[in-house]
Amino acid sequence: MKTIPIVSGAKPDTGHIEEYSANFVQFLLRAEAECGVLAEYNLAGQETILLSGVEAQEFFFRGSDENLSRAAAYQAMVPVFGPGVIFDAPPDKMKSQLKIQVDALRYQNMKNYAPVIAQEVEDWIADWGDEGELDFMDEFLELTIHTATHCLLGKDFRDKMTAEFKTLYRDLEAGLQAIAFVDPYMQQPIFEQRDRARERLEEIITAMIDERRNSDIEYNDALSTFMTGTYADGSYLTSTEVTGLVIATIFAGHHTSSGTSTWMLTELARHPKETAAIVEELNAIYQQDETLSHNALREMPKMESFLNEVLRVHPPLVVLMRRVINDIEFDGHAIPAGKTVAISIFGSHLNPEYFPDPEFFDPRRTEPETMFAYIPFGGGRHKCGGNAFALLQQKAIFSALLRRYSFEIVDHSDSYVDDLSGMVLRPQSPCRLRYKRRVS
Ligand code: HEM
Repeated sequence: MKTIPIVSGAKPDTGHIEEYSANFVQFLLRAEAECGVLAEYNLAGQETILLSGVEAQEFFFRGSDENLSRAAAYQAMVPVFGPGVIFDAPPDKMKSQLKIQVDALRYQNMKNYAPVIAQEVEDWIADWGDEGELDFMDEFLELTIHTATHCLLGKDFRDKMTAEFKTLYRDLEAGLQAIAFVDPYMQQPIFEQRDRARERLEEIITAMIDERRNSDIEYNDALSTFMTGTYADGSYLTSTEVTGLVIATIFAGHHTSSGTSTWMLTELARHPKETAAIVEELNAIYQQDETLSHNALREMPKMESFLNEVLRVHPPLVVLMRRVINDIEFDGHAIPAGKTVAISIFGSHLNPEYFPDPEFFDPRRTEPETMFAYIPFGGGRHKCGGNAFALLQQKAIFSALLRRYSFEIVDHSDSYVDDLSGMVLRPQSPCRLRYKRRVS
């Protein structure tokens, strides 16, 4: 068996955690440059192997849940999602829950969500006036909580509960700091707050489930899919499990979508020529029909290529991880149980073999034919279940914004950079942009 090279610079007690925490994107690029396809590093005791290149990425994505466990790598999420939910469920239940979750996000349901998202976007920009300046990172974080609560939990919830939900959600998120990945059950005020928020959320959602079970109204939101989905033996999910799916779905879609929208708008503002071409494309579509919710479901090749390039250069999920459960082997290297394997989406999107001049933002690029080279939504069995929802949302937002307003960056172009302090990549706050109403 060949030996897996170890990345230089490890400290005796803590390994590479300091350098990794300071800038994990740069660390992973250095690891690949120094060691090649397999690179081992140590995050305060957790020995991790970075797999780089399309063959290694394919091996990662095609790994079975039994050998490469997502659940074991993401145990910090268990108190947030709740007991018995996804990463804490036995394998057969986890599969059913993921299927029910993805059912709610299937392409066919997008016609239910399109008018909801369209209405949220219209309400958001209704009082913008002719011109102004906003921190769009903040704006998109707020908008995507509104769209998520509205599509997942329905209009009543959106109208009455969103303010309380935002506070609870903030407390849940605050419990996801680096120490949660060491031990999410330590006695810590942030964890107590997280647990109280989770309890309160379950109370609210249980009351909604009870109310709906006693009502004849037909709902078209994700909550109704979660409530009517069943396990293999025909039993329904408990309130704890339904609450967990609601939280897990919002977590999966919130920062990924808000970060993408903010980078999308910033890159559009930086690329006026390409933006003009997208506006032309939109005008042609809207000439036939003015309805935002219909049009957001239609194809928009220019806008979609631009979005693809945004997701290549700024992939919201930079690194994916799995825990090795049974000894495995890749390319003559033994990878023993207990280690973690990781892939860097960011690194993959900078591979010059598939993306010539990879640092250059070029919305005319076409997606490489080779599978597992362009992977903003992951791949294999756990590929993003919210892909269709995410695309619909971006199209609705940018159809509404670009037809009405033009955008400019406020600060120096070089000051709009990736913020790597959280688990999901996004532009550094504040992300100030100026808008001005278009003269038709
Ligand atoms: C641009 C936006 C988005 C990006 C870039 C993105 C990216 C990803 C990636 C890379 C994964 C794979 C994770 C892994 O393999 O460990 C994933 C999984 C997932 N995403 Fe997304 N996502 C986005 C938006 C959304 C939205 C809006 C939702 C829901 C409303 C969502 C729901 C999910 C779910 C449910 C999974 C897990 C699927 C499974 O385990 O079977 N995502 N996403």
